[in-house]
Amino acid sequence: MRGAPFLLLAALLAAAPAAAAPLPRIVTQPNGRHLLNVDGAPFLMLGAQANNSSNYPAMLPSIWPVIRRLHANTLEIPVAWEQVEPVEGRFDFSWVDALLRGARENHVRLVLLWFGTWKNTGPNYAPEWVKTDTGRFPRMKTADGKTHYVLSPHARSTLEADKRAFVRLIEHLRDADPDNIVIMVQVENEIGSYGLARDHSPEADRLFRGPVPAELARKLGKRPGTWSEMFGDFADQAFASWHMARYADEIAAAGKAVKDLPMYCNSSLGNPFDAKAASTTPSGGPQWNMIHVWRAAAPHIDLVAPDIYNRDAREVAALLGYFDRPDNALMVPETGNSIDHARFFWEALGRGAIGYAPFGMDETGYSNYPLGAKTLDAPTIEAFASKYRLFAPIARTWAGIAATHPIWGAAKGADAADRSTVMGRWKVTAMFEMWEFGERDWTWIKSDPHPTKGQPLGGAVVAQLGPDEFLVSGSDARLRFSLDKPGAGENGTMLRVEEGTFDATGRWVMRRVWNGDQTDYGLNFTAEPVLLRVKLGTYR
Ligand code: DGJ
Repeated sequence: MRGAPFLLLAALLAAAPAAAAPLPRIVTQPNGRHLLNVDGAPFLMLGAQANNSSNYPAMLPSIWPVIRRLHANTLEIPVAWEQVEPVEGRFDFSWVDALLRGARENHVRLVLLWFGTWKNTGPNYAPEWVKTDTGRFPRMKTADGKTHYVLSPHARSTLEADKRAFVRLIEHLRDADPDNIVIMVQVENEIGSYGLARDHSPEADRLFRGPVPAELARKLGKRPGTWSEMFGDFADQAFASWHMARYADEIAAAGKAVKDLPMYCNSSLGNPFDAKAASTTPSGGPQWNMIHVWRAAAPHIDLVAPDIYNRDAREVAALLGYFDRPDNALMVPETGNSIDHARFFWEALGRGAIGYAPFGMDETGYSNYPLGAKTLDAPTIEAFASKYRLFAPIARTWAGIAATHPIWGAAKGADAADRSTVMGRWKVTAMFEMWEFGERDWTWIKSDPHPTKGQPLGGAVVAQLGPDEFLVSGSDARLRFSLDKPGAGENGTMLRVEEGTFDATGRWVMRRVWNGDQTDYGLNFTAEPVLLRVKLGTYR
């Protein structure tokens, strides 16, 4: 009997003007945490990025099956300037139309990656008429006047041409995507320059000798001066960052004026512990040590985002930390797609990531090893799919919880050492390489090493729902709760551990209660993650 009113509602919705669909939004909470709202409600982007040359309709049959196997809810995929404007002024958006059709059929959202002036810093995806006309579209110059491969950010002609094509793309989305299948747009790809910290064209040199723009000095709370006075050893990088960020910002602003979608820029990242080394690998993009300059320069870029191919847990933790800021929502638009990268999903979630996407997730047969997996075989897909399967049905509920509650995540490091944090009165510890039964110091019974010993597997995430109530998940890890500072004779205990999930309305649905062997040795997660709701208490 519930069918009739629902049919009526559906008819009403269908008849409503398409423009009524609320636009995707990045919302910053009063607590400085962030939400991605899609269709007016929180959304965790469980993404996957296709390979670089998969942006043609003939490739889509090699993409959708992987997306389905992954249980991803979002596909990130390029739209190349060369493909939409092969001849100047003549536009062709048939690729975007094919993509929108496929995404609707597969019930996934899209993040479009605009490959324009910069793609991994170079202009390879710009149309031929841009690449060959260095008079109108000049490249950067070295200090001794040689031509560098990167398009200069100081050429208005290049900016205008890129902006015009980008605006046409967004106009197309405004008209062809009323239901906002496209939830975000990436402006350019890995902006910056390798091998040259900044442009040395006469115009660039003139600007570099002049003062730092008052707006930047004010936003950074610094006394105005020259680039060298204000940024010292990092002057070239700061200068390039400001100008490249301004360029991207102007493109984003023009696009947003047509359809106000969330827009972001991704970053190729240098050494996370050595700013000087990072400052040229590459220079000018939203490198981790220039986030403040980018945030000041580009108010129309909703966030800057790390492309994380690192496999070392300390490095990954540092990079996630740099980009998780009150003025910058954390999103991981690219990460390696090999099995060992998958454990960082937990750490990213625990940092409040609004989205996450392994790169190269299609069956076109290309592998970007050693950055990612050698082959996209079944176990590799499963390393991500096992996590996405669990989180896909609760993507909205999790996003709401993560933005409003204390959260923490950890991935196993090279030393497999315990990782712990304190949440309220509870100390939470993630342990690795342990069987589900027993303790490390048990000598009375022999056991084989755990199969994950020495393997880069394992991680966990924790959300604190109330003072003594937690939502936890993980893979290849044991989680333990203990009182951080127990009073005299005070003991902590698990009062109830429920395995379950949330339904579509966000109501907790219990599957079973864990007790006995399942809780006597901590909460043990195998390679197949589950969701647990844990109630703790004390006794004396
Ligand atoms: C990072 C870039 O953003 C991607 O487009 C791709 O080139 C990968 N690196 C390498 O596969």
